[in-house]
Order: sequence, then structure tokens, then C-alpha cells
Amino acid sequence: MAVKFYRPENQVPLEMHKVRVVQKLTLLPVEERLRAIQEAGNNTFLLQNKDIYMDMITDSGVNGMSDKQVAAMQVADDSYAGSETWNRAKAAIDEVFGVTNVLPAHQGRAAENILAEAFVKPGMVTLMNFHFTTTKAHITRLGGEVVELVDKKGLIPQSDDPFKGDFDLEALRKAIDDYTPEKVAFVRVESGTNLIGGQPVSLENMMAVCDICHEKGVVSVLDASLLQDNVYFMKMREPRCKYMETKEIYRLLASRFDIIYFSARKLGFSRGGFILSSDKKWTDMMMEFVPLFEGFLTYGGMEVRSIEAAAQGLLESLDMEYINQGPEFIAYLAKELDDYGVPVIKPAGGLGVHLNCSEFVPEMPHNQYPAAAVGAAVYIAGGIRGMERGTVSEQREPDGSERYAELELQRLAVPRRVFTLSQIKYCADRVKWVWDNRKLIGGLQWTQEPKVLRFFFGRMKEIGYWQEELAKKFRQDFGDSL
Ligand code: F0G
Repeated sequence: MAVKFYRPENQVPLEMHKVRVVQKLTLLPVEERLRAIQEAGNNTFLLQNKDIYMDMITDSGVNGMSDKQVAAMQVADDSYAGSETWNRAKAAIDEVFGVTNVLPAHQGRAAENILAEAFVKPGMVTLMNFHFTTTKAHITRLGGEVVELVDKKGLIPQSDDPFKGDFDLEALRKAIDDYTPEKVAFVRVESGTNLIGGQPVSLENMMAVCDICHEKGVVSVLDASLLQDNVYFMKMREPRCKYMETKEIYRLLASRFDIIYFSARKLGFSRGGFILSSDKKWTDMMMEFVPLFEGFLTYGGMEVRSIEAAAQGLLESLDMEYINQGPEFIAYLAKELDDYGVPVIKPAGGLGVHLNCSEFVPEMPHNQYPAAAVGAAVYIAGGIRGMERGTVSEQREPDGSERYAELELQRLAVPRRVFTLSQIKYCADRVKWVWDNRKLIGGLQWTQEPKVLRFFFGRMKEIGYWQEELAKKFRQDFGDSL
């Protein structure tokens, strides 16, 4: 239940937690921010945290821990095999999902690797509402193909549709028939569809996907990394979920999907990853890859303290007073920007706020990487680090041609339970300044372009001297302010 303020104009999202451990931040002068982004090859992944004021690159592995999580870490049982920590993690997963077939992995993409190793053979397809970078890389590495079947409403940047991550169910049926069920390695639902703006999938749509998979004899997989935000949106936006307990939703999903995997860097406010199977036969199929790639079956490459924190964090993912904080701060920031005219993905989703860079710098062609350029500008303006989620985050086609992203987004992630509202307001203020000065923003070009996952370590430089101009304008507008 949202807390109402006496004066409606004072209404803001209210945290139901307080901060008891803090970390000092620095905000560099704009000239040093300019130097830092250029030294980082205009790639925010290559910035150093000491040069960052608000780190909004991700919500992964950087969420605020609760007192109970920190306490749980103290009693971690560090034994190679059969640790009590693992038993406690399994008990927490059973409590939340009602599932006992569980495998560990060191993080989400490691779970994806195991899934791909077990199910994907050359020439097979995987059908999903939308790809995620690491998911796709593992599937294509093994000769599989990714086919995206998100409902077309998902790619409309601004709408009021509550569930833009939904599958196009007709297209799913048709794709399974056309490829034939034997060629479909699995169907994957990404709940809280990352690359299109953290957009949720409705419970109804997920159930329908499971029904179709069941009917056609195809394995259904849920990527639950962003599920806690998605559950929040189900409760808020889907009438049938309003009076369901959060646990009922988690458990209903687990009873219908064959396999659920997630990054505990997101779901669980910790680090690590898990793969849950409704039937032991799937666990058995994947099990052999765990000791091979990850570690023994009772830790899977995770550090025991992280497993303890994840177990407690998963229980906290049932609590609406915890899981509302991310989406409500995101909604606040998105509204601030939208009211000012800054193009953001609407409705606000989970994970973070997504600037729609095709509208931010409409004249800039895809091959000058508008989303990365806006990201560099936001860092110069505010020491705020976002993440490019546009063409740079795509892979080139096998023939070497550029694959232009459907949406050119700059993502400003809002890690859960981390920022105060004043920091969110600061972020809004600096992005508004960038918006007002958008004419100054120019393009970028590659100086070093890796072949795989280039967005992680590729380097670019500005075309011309627009970044120097932007820093100069900042000085004019902000005087001697940091
Ligand atoms: N699936 C989804 C939907 C994700 O968002 C991520 C990670 C993964 C899988 C992989 O998990 O990082 O633990 O290996 N997303 C992070 C992000 C990296 O910043 O969006 P991981």
C-alpha cells in the first residue's frame, strides 16, 4: 500500500528501509570527467568507479544489502561439498518457488551457458520474446539461432501498454510449427525484458506461452533475473494479480515453466545464479556441466557468503515493501524527465530509466552510435554512468555488416535500495541539461572493435570536438560548480 502524503504536491516514493552503511562518493570537475570518458574510449564500461558520482550502469550485483543478508553472510558454511549454506539456499528457493530441483551457477550468464550446452545443437532455434546479450552469445556460439517474437507493441517506444514484454502468441505458435518442435531447443520468456526497457510480461501471457509449449511438446524456460520487478508490475497492473500474494505468483510460474534460471545479482540482491527445474530430468540433463564449468553441485562457482545473501535476498523478493522501491524510483525519474520533454521509454519499466536516443539526437545515424554518444554526454554533464543499449550492444551480422538496434537506448539503471531521492533528482536535473544542449552532441567512431560482446571492451572516439564544446558549455552554465 503506497504511503499518502498530506499535500499531494509533496508526494514522492517513500522508502520502507533506512541506510545504515554508506560509501563515500566523488564528483569530479567537468574537465576531469571529459578526460575520464575519453580515456575510457567513450565506453562507460571502461570508466573507473572512483571517477563516477552516480553509477547507473547496472542493477546487477550492486543492490543494497539488508541487515539480515549481512548477518546471514556471517554464518556461511564453507565446505566444498554438502555445505549447510547450500541447504539453506535450497530451502529459500523452495519457500519462494516451491521447487527442489536446483543447480548453482556463478552468475546468470553461466546458467545460460549450461542451458545452451544442454539444449542447443547446431541448426536449432530458440524462440524468445527478446534476446539478452549474453543469452544470445551462448546460443549462437553453439550454432543455434535466436528468433525474437515480442508483441509489436513492445517496440513502440512510448505507449501506455502495461505489458510491453509480452510474447506475440500467434507468432509463437506459427514459429514452432514452421521450425517444427524438434528443431526448437527451447522457448524462453524474459520477464522484465531487459533490452526493450525492462518491460514486464503479464502473468496471463506467460501462462499462455507455457500452454503453447506444453501442447507442442517444447521446453519452456523463464529467465527470472528481473522477475521481482515483473512481479511488482503484475500486482500493480494486472487485475487478476492484485489480490494474489507475491509468493502465489512466484509459485504459479514455477509450477508451469519447465525451467527457471536467474542471475542472483538481480533477483536475490546478491551475486550468483541458479537453475530450477520442475522435473528432475531437466536437472539431470544439465547437471554434468556444473562441475565442468562452475564448481561442485553445492556451490557452483559462487562464494558461500553470496549464497547466504542470495537465500535471504530471495525471501525479501516476496516483500512488496522491498520490491516496490526500484520500480517506484524509476517511475519517479521517468516522470521527471518525461514532463520536461526528454524522450524516455514509456511506460516506465523495471531495471532503470531508458533514454530514447533516436529521438534525443534524431539526426544522428545508427553508425555514429547515438545511444553511446548520449551516454558519454550524460557522464560529462553529471559524472553519471549509464549503459549503451543500442547498436553498440548488438553483434555484427555474420557477413560483417552492422546490425542496427531496434531501439537506441541509453539505460540509467537504478540499483535497488541504493540511491536517495535527492540523487535521483540530481540525475534528472543533469539529464535535462543534456537535453537542452542536445544540439551539441555529435557521433562516435570505433578505434578498437572486438568481435564478441564488443560493448564490454570496445573503444571509440568522438567525431570532431563536440565533447570539448559540451564541457565548455557546462562551465558557462554551472560556473564553478562540480
Ligand atoms: N538475463 C537477464 C535478463 C539479464 O538482465 C542478465 C544480466 C543476465 C541474464 C545475465 O546475468 O549478469 O548475472 O551473468 N544483466 C545485467 C545488466 C548484466 O546490466 O542488465 P549475469
